[in-house]
Amino acid sequence: MPFVPQSPACDPHDCHRHHSEEETTTGIPMATILAAARLSRPLAQLALKAPGLKDGAAGLRPRPEFWFSVSGVTKGGRSYATTTTAAPTEVSEIGERAVLITGCDSGFGFALAKHLHEKGFIIYAGCLLKEQGRGGSKELDDMESDHMRTVQLNVCDSEEVSRAVDFVTSTLKGPDTGLWGLVNNAGVSTFGEVEFTSMDTYKEVAEVNLWGTIRTTKAFLPLIRRAKGRVVNISSMMGRMANPARSPYCITKFGVEAFSDCLRYEMRPHEVKVCIVEPGNFIAGTSLYSPERIKSIADKMWDELPEIVRRDYGRKYFDEQVAKMQSYCNSGSTDTSPVIDSITHALTSTTPYTRYHPMDYYWWLRMQVMTHMPAAISDRLYIY
Ligand SMILES: NC(=O)c1ccc[n+]([C@@H]2O[C@H](COP(=O)([O-])OP(=O)(O)OC[C@H]3O[C@@H](n4cnc5c(N)ncnc54)[C@H](OP(=O)(O)O)[C@@H]3O)[C@@H](O)[C@H]2O)c1
Repeated sequence: MPFVPQSPACDPHDCHRHHSEEETTTGIPMATILAAARLSRPLAQLALKAPGLKDGAAGLRPRPEFWFSVSGVTKGGRSYATTTTAAPTEVSEIGERAVLITGCDSGFGFALAKHLHEKGFIIYAGCLLKEQGRGGSKELDDMESDHMRTVQLNVCDSEEVSRAVDFVTSTLKGPDTGLWGLVNNAGVSTFGEVEFTSMDTYKEVAEVNLWGTIRTTKAFLPLIRRAKGRVVNISSMMGRMANPARSPYCITKFGVEAFSDCLRYEMRPHEVKVCIVEPGNFIAGTSLYSPERIKSIADKMWDELPEIVRRDYGRKYFDEQVAKMQSYCNSGSTDTSPVIDSITHALTSTTPYTRYHPMDYYWWLRMQVMTHMPAAISDRLYIY
Protein backbone atom coordinates (compact mmCIF):
# COMPACT_ATOMS: atom_id res chain seq x y z
CA MET A 1 0.00 0.00 0.00
CA PRO A 2 1.51 3.37 -0.91
CA PHE A 3 2.64 5.46 2.01
CA VAL A 4 1.06 8.73 0.98
CA PRO A 5 2.25 11.91 2.60
CA GLN A 6 -0.75 13.93 3.67
CA SER A 7 -1.46 17.12 1.82
CA PRO A 8 -0.37 20.23 3.63
CA ALA A 9 -3.09 22.20 1.89
CA CYS A 10 -5.22 24.53 3.92
CA ASP A 11 -8.30 22.94 5.43
CA PRO A 12 -10.52 23.96 8.33
CA HIS A 13 -8.22 22.19 10.81
CA ASP A 14 -5.13 23.38 9.11
CA CYS A 15 -5.54 27.08 8.49
CA HIS A 16 -4.64 27.96 12.04
CA ARG A 17 -1.13 26.68 11.47
CA HIS A 18 -0.38 29.71 9.28
CA HIS A 19 0.97 32.63 11.12
CA SER A 20 3.53 33.80 8.64
CA GLU A 21 2.56 37.44 8.20
CA GLU A 22 1.55 37.74 11.84
CA GLU A 23 2.42 40.81 13.81
CA THR A 24 3.34 40.44 17.43
CA THR A 25 1.71 42.37 20.23
CA THR A 26 4.62 44.80 20.04
CA GLY A 27 3.68 45.67 16.46
CA ILE A 28 6.95 44.30 15.14
CA PRO A 29 6.41 41.84 12.31
CA MET A 30 6.88 38.23 13.42
CA ALA A 31 9.34 37.54 10.59
CA THR A 32 11.64 40.31 11.89
CA ILE A 33 11.61 38.90 15.39
CA LEU A 34 12.26 35.38 14.15
CA ALA A 35 15.17 36.56 12.01
CA ALA A 36 16.63 38.57 14.90
CA ALA A 37 16.33 35.63 17.27
CA ARG A 38 17.95 33.37 14.72
CA LEU A 39 20.86 35.71 14.10
CA SER A 40 21.49 36.34 17.76
CA ARG A 41 22.53 32.73 18.35
CA PRO A 42 26.11 32.25 19.48
CA LEU A 43 28.36 31.76 16.46
CA ALA A 44 29.30 28.25 17.53
CA GLN A 45 25.68 27.18 17.36
CA LEU A 46 25.17 28.88 14.03
CA ALA A 47 28.08 26.96 12.60
CA LEU A 48 26.58 23.67 13.69
CA LYS A 49 23.29 24.51 12.01
CA ALA A 50 24.81 25.83 8.81
CA PRO A 51 23.84 23.98 5.63
CA GLY A 52 26.39 21.49 4.43
CA LEU A 53 27.63 20.29 7.79
CA LYS A 54 26.01 16.88 7.64
CA ASP A 55 27.74 14.29 9.77
CA GLY A 56 27.59 11.59 7.17
CA ALA A 57 29.93 9.21 8.94
CA ALA A 58 27.83 8.74 12.03
CA GLY A 59 24.66 8.88 9.98
CA LEU A 60 22.94 10.43 12.96
CA ARG A 61 22.92 14.13 12.33
CA PRO A 62 19.93 14.99 10.19
CA ARG A 63 20.24 17.00 7.03
CA PRO A 64 20.56 20.66 7.99
CA GLU A 65 17.69 22.70 6.75
CA PHE A 66 16.51 26.29 6.80
CA TRP A 67 13.70 26.52 9.28
CA PHE A 68 12.13 29.53 7.70
CA SER A 69 10.96 29.92 4.14
CA VAL A 70 11.40 33.16 2.25
CA SER A 71 7.88 34.14 3.24
CA GLY A 72 8.77 33.73 6.91
CA VAL A 73 6.54 30.71 7.35
CA THR A 74 8.19 28.29 9.75
CA LYS A 75 8.83 24.98 8.08
CA GLY A 76 8.95 21.35 8.98
CA GLY A 77 8.85 20.18 12.56
CA ARG A 78 9.85 23.37 14.33
CA SER A 79 6.46 24.83 14.77
CA TYR A 80 2.82 24.31 13.97
CA ALA A 81 2.98 26.13 10.66
CA THR A 82 2.34 24.38 7.39
CA THR A 83 4.97 23.49 4.85
CA THR A 84 3.51 25.80 2.24
CA THR A 85 6.64 26.10 0.16
CA ALA A 86 8.30 22.79 0.83
CA ALA A 87 6.06 19.93 -0.20
CA PRO A 88 6.95 16.50 1.13
CA THR A 89 9.54 15.02 -1.17
CA GLU A 90 9.61 11.36 -0.21
CA VAL A 91 7.06 8.67 -0.77
CA SER A 92 7.63 5.54 1.21
CA GLU A 93 5.77 2.27 1.83
CA ILE A 94 3.75 1.32 4.91
CA GLY A 95 4.90 -2.25 4.33
CA GLU A 96 5.55 -3.95 7.67
CA ARG A 97 5.56 -0.75 9.70
CA ALA A 98 4.00 -1.20 13.12
CA VAL A 99 2.43 1.28 15.52
CA LEU A 100 1.67 0.84 19.21
CA ILE A 101 -1.24 2.87 20.57
CA THR A 102 -2.09 3.12 24.27
CA GLY A 103 -5.64 3.43 25.57
CA CYS A 104 -7.44 1.55 22.80
CA ASP A 105 -10.42 0.44 24.91
CA SER A 106 -12.44 3.43 23.72
CA GLY A 107 -12.39 6.92 22.23
CA PHE A 108 -9.59 8.17 19.98
CA GLY A 109 -7.40 5.12 20.65
CA PHE A 110 -10.02 2.62 19.56
CA ALA A 111 -10.94 4.61 16.43
CA LEU A 112 -7.29 5.18 15.57
CA ALA A 113 -6.41 1.48 15.90
CA LYS A 114 -9.11 0.61 13.34
CA HIS A 115 -8.21 3.52 11.05
CA LEU A 116 -4.48 2.79 10.92
CA HIS A 117 -5.19 -0.92 10.49
CA GLU A 118 -7.28 -0.04 7.44
CA LYS A 119 -4.35 1.95 6.09
CA GLY A 120 -2.17 -1.16 6.29
CA PHE A 121 -0.19 -0.65 9.49
CA ILE A 122 0.45 -3.50 11.91
CA ILE A 123 -1.29 -2.36 15.08
CA TYR A 124 -0.36 -3.11 18.65
CA ALA A 125 -3.45 -1.91 20.47
CA GLY A 126 -2.69 -1.38 24.15
CA CYS A 127 -5.85 -2.01 26.16
CA LEU A 128 -6.34 -1.47 29.86
CA LEU A 129 -9.19 -3.96 30.08
CA LYS A 130 -7.99 -6.71 27.73
CA GLU A 131 -7.41 -9.28 30.47
CA GLN A 132 -10.84 -8.55 31.89
CA GLY A 133 -12.37 -9.19 28.48
CA ARG A 134 -14.02 -5.76 28.52
CA GLY A 135 -13.63 -2.57 26.53
CA GLY A 136 -12.63 -2.25 22.88
CA SER A 137 -10.09 -5.09 22.89
CA LYS A 138 -12.80 -7.68 22.26
CA GLU A 139 -14.03 -5.94 19.11
CA LEU A 140 -10.45 -5.47 17.90
CA ASP A 141 -9.68 -9.15 18.58
CA ASP A 142 -12.86 -10.16 16.77
CA MET A 143 -11.44 -8.63 13.60
CA GLU A 144 -9.18 -11.72 13.52
CA SER A 145 -6.52 -9.88 11.56
CA ASP A 146 -2.86 -10.75 11.95
CA HIS A 147 -2.25 -7.00 11.58
CA MET A 148 -4.37 -6.21 14.66
CA ARG A 149 -2.67 -7.34 17.86
CA THR A 150 -4.17 -6.33 21.17
CA VAL A 151 -1.96 -6.24 24.21
CA GLN A 152 -2.76 -5.84 27.90
CA LEU A 153 -1.32 -2.44 28.81
CA ASN A 154 -1.82 -0.36 31.90
CA VAL A 155 0.55 2.56 31.41
CA CYS A 156 0.85 2.98 35.18
CA ASP A 157 2.27 -0.51 35.62
CA SER A 158 5.97 -0.80 34.78
CA GLU A 159 5.79 -4.60 34.56
CA GLU A 160 2.92 -4.50 32.08
CA VAL A 161 4.74 -1.93 30.01
CA SER A 162 7.86 -4.06 29.99
CA ARG A 163 5.84 -7.17 29.05
CA ALA A 164 4.31 -5.18 26.19
CA VAL A 165 7.81 -4.25 24.96
CA ASP A 166 8.78 -7.95 25.04
CA PHE A 167 5.62 -8.91 23.16
CA VAL A 168 6.20 -6.28 20.48
CA THR A 169 9.88 -7.14 20.15
CA SER A 170 9.17 -10.85 19.80
CA THR A 171 6.37 -10.46 17.28
CA LEU A 172 7.80 -7.73 15.06
CA LYS A 173 8.94 -9.18 11.78
CA GLY A 174 12.30 -7.52 12.06
CA PRO A 175 12.93 -6.37 15.64
CA ASP A 176 16.19 -4.88 14.47
CA THR A 177 14.29 -2.50 12.24
CA GLY A 178 12.25 -1.36 15.22
CA LEU A 179 8.79 0.04 15.77
CA TRP A 180 7.60 2.84 13.50
CA GLY A 181 5.16 4.61 15.76
CA LEU A 182 4.19 5.06 19.39
CA VAL A 183 0.98 6.94 20.12
CA ASN A 184 0.67 7.91 23.77
CA ASN A 185 -3.08 8.28 23.90
CA ALA A 186 -4.17 6.73 27.23
CA GLY A 187 -5.59 9.37 29.49
CA VAL A 188 -8.06 10.19 32.21
CA SER A 189 -9.62 13.45 33.25
CA THR A 190 -11.35 15.02 36.15
CA PHE A 191 -12.48 18.48 37.20
CA GLY A 192 -12.72 20.58 40.30
CA GLU A 193 -11.23 23.73 41.68
CA VAL A 194 -7.92 23.53 43.50
CA GLU A 195 -9.60 23.70 46.90
CA PHE A 196 -11.97 20.91 45.91
CA THR A 197 -9.29 18.58 44.57
CA SER A 198 -7.55 16.08 46.82
CA MET A 199 -3.84 15.32 46.51
CA ASP A 200 -4.80 11.73 45.65
CA THR A 201 -6.74 13.00 42.64
CA TYR A 202 -3.81 15.09 41.43
CA LYS A 203 -1.57 12.04 41.71
CA GLU A 204 -4.02 9.64 40.05
CA VAL A 205 -4.46 11.82 36.97
CA ALA A 206 -0.71 12.50 36.69
CA GLU A 207 0.06 8.79 37.06
CA VAL A 208 -1.80 8.02 33.84
CA ASN A 209 -1.45 11.16 31.72
CA LEU A 210 2.07 12.24 32.56
CA TRP A 211 4.08 9.44 34.19
CA GLY A 212 2.26 6.88 32.01
CA THR A 213 3.30 8.77 28.87
CA ILE A 214 6.90 9.09 30.06
CA ARG A 215 7.10 5.48 31.27
CA THR A 216 5.75 4.08 27.98
CA THR A 217 7.90 6.37 25.86
CA LYS A 218 11.11 5.45 27.68
CA ALA A 219 10.29 1.75 27.35
CA PHE A 220 9.60 1.84 23.61
CA LEU A 221 12.13 4.49 22.60
CA PRO A 222 14.95 2.08 21.70
CA LEU A 223 12.62 0.33 19.23
CA ILE A 224 11.38 3.65 17.85
CA ARG A 225 14.93 4.95 17.54
CA ARG A 226 15.99 1.92 15.53
CA ALA A 227 13.18 2.56 13.08
CA LYS A 228 13.86 6.31 12.98
CA GLY A 229 10.18 6.39 13.75
CA ARG A 230 7.59 8.68 15.34
CA VAL A 231 6.36 9.42 18.83
CA VAL A 232 2.95 11.05 18.88
CA ASN A 233 1.79 12.36 22.22
CA ILE A 234 -1.86 13.20 22.73
CA SER A 235 -1.93 16.32 24.80
CA SER A 236 -4.88 18.72 24.76
CA MET A 237 -5.71 22.36 24.23
CA MET A 238 -5.59 22.26 28.04
CA GLY A 239 -1.89 21.56 27.67
CA ARG A 240 -1.48 25.05 26.21
CA MET A 241 -3.96 27.13 28.15
CA ALA A 242 -5.11 26.64 31.68
CA ASN A 243 -8.71 26.75 32.76
CA PRO A 244 -10.40 27.21 36.11
CA ALA A 245 -11.55 23.93 37.66
CA ARG A 246 -9.29 21.86 35.42
CA SER A 247 -5.95 22.05 37.25
CA PRO A 248 -5.51 18.29 37.80
CA TYR A 249 -5.82 17.74 34.06
CA CYS A 250 -4.02 20.90 32.85
CA ILE A 251 -0.85 20.29 34.84
CA THR A 252 -0.48 16.81 33.37
CA LYS A 253 -0.99 18.02 29.80
CA PHE A 254 1.38 20.97 30.29
CA GLY A 255 3.84 18.33 31.48
CA VAL A 256 3.25 16.21 28.38
CA GLU A 257 3.99 19.30 26.24
CA ALA A 258 7.27 19.98 28.04
CA PHE A 259 8.29 16.33 27.89
CA SER A 260 7.50 16.18 24.17
CA ASP A 261 9.49 19.33 23.42
CA CYS A 262 12.56 18.06 25.31
CA LEU A 263 12.25 14.69 23.61
CA ARG A 264 11.92 16.32 20.18
CA TYR A 265 15.14 18.26 20.68
CA GLU A 266 16.97 15.15 21.85
CA MET A 267 15.64 12.85 19.15
CA ARG A 268 16.35 15.13 16.21
CA PRO A 269 19.88 13.82 15.71
CA HIS A 270 18.42 10.31 15.64
CA GLU A 271 15.85 11.29 12.99
CA VAL A 272 12.98 10.37 15.29
CA LYS A 273 10.11 12.83 14.96
CA VAL A 274 8.09 13.78 18.00
CA CYS A 275 4.66 15.30 17.46
CA ILE A 276 2.05 16.67 19.81
CA VAL A 277 -1.66 16.55 19.10
CA GLU A 278 -3.74 19.06 21.06
CA PRO A 279 -7.41 18.18 20.62
CA GLY A 280 -10.14 20.63 21.53
CA ASN A 281 -13.44 19.47 22.96
CA PHE A 282 -14.45 16.03 21.62
CA ILE A 283 -15.94 14.83 24.85
CA ALA A 284 -19.26 13.90 23.27
CA GLY A 285 -17.38 11.57 20.90
CA THR A 286 -15.29 9.72 23.50
CA SER A 287 -15.61 8.20 26.97
CA LEU A 288 -13.42 10.76 28.74
CA TYR A 289 -16.47 12.11 30.54
CA SER A 290 -20.07 11.12 30.79
CA PRO A 291 -22.85 12.63 32.89
CA GLU A 292 -22.58 9.57 35.14
CA ARG A 293 -18.81 9.98 35.53
CA ILE A 294 -19.18 13.67 36.35
CA LYS A 295 -21.80 12.87 38.97
CA SER A 296 -19.69 10.19 40.56
CA ILE A 297 -16.61 12.49 40.65
CA ALA A 298 -18.75 15.26 42.15
CA ASP A 299 -20.29 13.02 44.83
CA LYS A 300 -16.89 11.71 45.92
CA MET A 301 -15.41 15.20 45.88
CA TRP A 302 -18.14 16.65 48.07
CA ASP A 303 -17.91 13.75 50.54
CA GLU A 304 -14.15 14.20 50.89
CA LEU A 305 -14.10 18.01 51.12
CA PRO A 306 -12.57 19.50 54.25
CA GLU A 307 -15.33 20.93 56.41
CA ILE A 308 -14.00 24.49 56.13
CA VAL A 309 -14.09 24.41 52.33
CA ARG A 310 -17.56 22.87 52.28
CA ARG A 311 -18.88 25.53 54.64
CA ASP A 312 -17.18 28.52 52.97
CA TYR A 313 -18.19 27.69 49.39
CA GLY A 314 -21.53 26.04 50.16
CA ARG A 315 -23.45 23.34 48.32
CA LYS A 316 -25.16 25.78 45.94
CA TYR A 317 -21.87 27.04 44.52
CA PHE A 318 -20.51 23.50 44.27
CA ASP A 319 -23.59 22.28 42.39
CA GLU A 320 -23.34 25.24 39.98
CA GLN A 321 -19.77 24.25 39.13
CA VAL A 322 -20.81 20.66 38.52
CA ALA A 323 -23.65 21.85 36.28
CA LYS A 324 -21.18 24.00 34.29
CA MET A 325 -19.01 20.94 33.76
CA GLN A 326 -22.03 18.92 32.61
CA SER A 327 -22.92 21.56 30.02
CA TYR A 328 -19.30 21.84 28.82
CA CYS A 329 -19.31 18.11 28.17
CA ASN A 330 -22.48 18.27 26.12
CA SER A 331 -20.96 20.93 23.88
CA GLY A 332 -18.16 18.77 22.45
CA SER A 333 -17.93 17.44 18.92
CA THR A 334 -19.00 13.86 18.23
CA ASP A 335 -16.89 13.64 15.07
CA THR A 336 -13.41 12.58 16.15
CA SER A 337 -12.04 12.39 12.60
CA PRO A 338 -10.02 15.66 12.88
CA VAL A 339 -8.06 14.08 15.73
CA ILE A 340 -7.63 10.76 13.92
CA ASP A 341 -6.52 12.61 10.75
CA SER A 342 -3.98 14.66 12.72
CA ILE A 343 -2.43 11.58 14.31
CA THR A 344 -2.40 9.82 10.94
CA HIS A 345 -0.63 12.79 9.38
CA ALA A 346 1.95 12.75 12.17
CA LEU A 347 2.64 9.08 11.45
CA THR A 348 2.57 9.13 7.68
CA SER A 349 3.74 12.51 6.42
CA THR A 350 7.38 12.83 5.52
CA THR A 351 7.28 16.28 7.13
CA PRO A 352 4.94 16.00 10.09
CA TYR A 353 4.10 19.09 12.13
CA THR A 354 5.32 19.59 15.65
CA ARG A 355 1.87 20.51 16.92
CA TYR A 356 -1.60 19.70 15.63
CA HIS A 357 -4.70 21.58 16.71
CA PRO A 358 -7.82 19.62 15.86
CA MET A 359 -10.38 21.93 17.43
CA ASP A 360 -13.17 24.24 16.41
CA TYR A 361 -12.55 27.89 15.65
CA TYR A 362 -13.79 29.16 18.98
CA TRP A 363 -11.21 27.11 20.89
CA TRP A 364 -8.47 27.77 18.34
CA LEU A 365 -8.94 31.55 18.61
CA ARG A 366 -9.15 31.35 22.38
CA MET A 367 -5.92 29.34 22.48
CA GLN A 368 -4.12 31.89 20.28
CA VAL A 369 -5.31 34.78 22.45
CA MET A 370 -4.46 32.98 25.69
CA THR A 371 -0.98 32.06 24.50
CA HIS A 372 -0.04 35.25 22.62
CA MET A 373 -1.71 38.15 24.41
CA PRO A 374 -0.75 39.65 27.74
CA ALA A 375 -2.61 37.93 30.56
CA ALA A 376 -4.20 41.23 31.56
CA ILE A 377 -6.14 41.10 28.29
CA SER A 378 -6.72 37.37 27.79
CA ASP A 379 -7.86 36.85 31.39
CA ARG A 380 -10.47 39.55 30.97
CA LEU A 381 -11.64 38.20 27.66
CA TYR A 382 -12.03 34.58 28.64
CA ILE A 383 -11.74 33.98 32.36
CA TYR A 384 -13.19 36.82 34.47
N1 LIG B 1 -12.11 13.75 24.38
C1 LIG B 1 -11.60 14.96 24.36
O1 LIG B 1 -12.31 15.96 24.22
C2 LIG B 1 -10.12 15.15 24.54
C3 LIG B 1 -9.63 16.43 24.35
C4 LIG B 1 -8.27 16.64 24.48
C5 LIG B 1 -7.44 15.59 24.77
N2 LIG B 1 -7.96 14.34 24.95
C6 LIG B 1 -7.02 13.26 25.25
O2 LIG B 1 -7.21 12.22 24.33
C7 LIG B 1 -6.74 11.00 24.91
C8 LIG B 1 -7.76 9.92 24.66
O3 LIG B 1 -8.92 10.21 25.40
P1 LIG B 1 -10.38 10.02 24.85
O4 LIG B 1 -10.98 11.35 24.75
O5 LIG B 1 -10.40 9.12 23.68
O6 LIG B 1 -11.10 9.35 26.12
P2 LIG B 1 -11.42 7.85 26.42
O7 LIG B 1 -12.46 7.36 25.50
O8 LIG B 1 -11.75 7.78 27.89
O9 LIG B 1 -10.06 7.11 26.11
C9 LIG B 1 -9.00 7.06 27.02
C10 LIG B 1 -8.53 5.64 27.08
O10 LIG B 1 -7.42 5.53 27.97
C11 LIG B 1 -7.63 4.37 28.75
N3 LIG B 1 -6.89 4.39 30.00
C12 LIG B 1 -7.21 5.01 31.15
N4 LIG B 1 -6.30 4.75 32.09
C13 LIG B 1 -5.37 3.95 31.50
C14 LIG B 1 -4.19 3.32 31.95
N5 LIG B 1 -3.76 3.46 33.21
N6 LIG B 1 -3.49 2.56 31.08
C15 LIG B 1 -3.91 2.40 29.81
N7 LIG B 1 -5.04 2.93 29.34
C16 LIG B 1 -5.75 3.72 30.18
C17 LIG B 1 -9.10 4.32 28.98
O11 LIG B 1 -9.48 3.00 29.35
P3 LIG B 1 -10.88 2.80 30.12
O12 LIG B 1 -11.93 3.29 29.19
O13 LIG B 1 -10.91 1.36 30.34
O14 LIG B 1 -10.78 3.61 31.36
C18 LIG B 1 -9.63 4.72 27.63
O15 LIG B 1 -9.76 3.64 26.77
C19 LIG B 1 -6.48 11.29 26.37
O16 LIG B 1 -5.09 11.47 26.56
C20 LIG B 1 -7.20 12.60 26.59
O17 LIG B 1 -6.64 13.36 27.63
C21 LIG B 1 -9.27 14.10 24.83
